[in-house]
Amino acid sequence: MGNVYIFDHPLIQHKLAILRDKETGTKDFRELVKEISMLMAYEATRNLPLEEVEIETPLQKTTVRMLKGEDIAIVPILRAGLGMVDGILSLIPNAKVGHIGLYRDPETKKPVEYYCKLPEDIDKRQMFVLDPMLATGGSSSAAIQMLKDKGARNIIFMCMIASPEGIEVVHRDHPDIDIFIAAKDECLDENCYILPGLGDAGDRLYGTK
Ligand code: PRP
Ligand code: URA
Repeated sequence: MGNVYIFDHPLIQHKLAILRDKETGTKDFRELVKEISMLMAYEATRNLPLEEVEIETPLQKTTVRMLKGEDIAIVPILRAGLGMVDGILSLIPNAKVGHIGLYRDPETKKPVEYYCKLPEDIDKRQMFVLDPMLATGGSSSAAIQMLKDKGARNIIFMCMIASPEGIEVVHRDHPDIDIFIAAKDECLDENCYILPGLGDAGDRLYGTK
């Protein structure tokens, strides 16, 4: 069974608190999502494999350990997941970036797929699926399934705020996946929004409401 890791680092929690505040405007919201993503990536990459590489310092040859950076791919779920990309790329600039387009049908709350473009060799890569919100779990579970159907074997899901219901759905559908989150919230409301949550992440990122 995959694990849930909650990042309680004070910097992450502080920034998340400002992110939740309804007075936080689009510009600050976007910057905070980027910063939190970078901090979460720092924590979530703790166990990434290193490889030994021979280099030459100004004084002598030596063997050093470097990330197998070319083996990582990040996959934001559009739209809101896009806000997490730059923060992660600032730490892992060689990562490939795929995109999965899903929106939640307002009536059924089920995910509807509208786009999918992935790097070619996802079976050989460590994949990070990104979405700031895990509510019913429908979107993230569907995105993870799309990656598996196309051959991905090593997948981690990273999100900022998760509901208990969403975590259960992803665990049920994908017991092999580890989930990295910044906060586990209380529940969903009647419209399947996370409480207390932060509202609609896509709208707050892009100022569309
Ligand atoms: C939001 C969010 C997740 C999804 C979570 O996207 O970014 O993708 O809802 O809900 P779920 O766990 O119940 O599936 P939304 O459908 O609002 O699309 P958007 O990012 O384009 O605004
Ligand atoms: N999507 C969001 O952006 N926020 C929620 O609380 C639930 C789904």
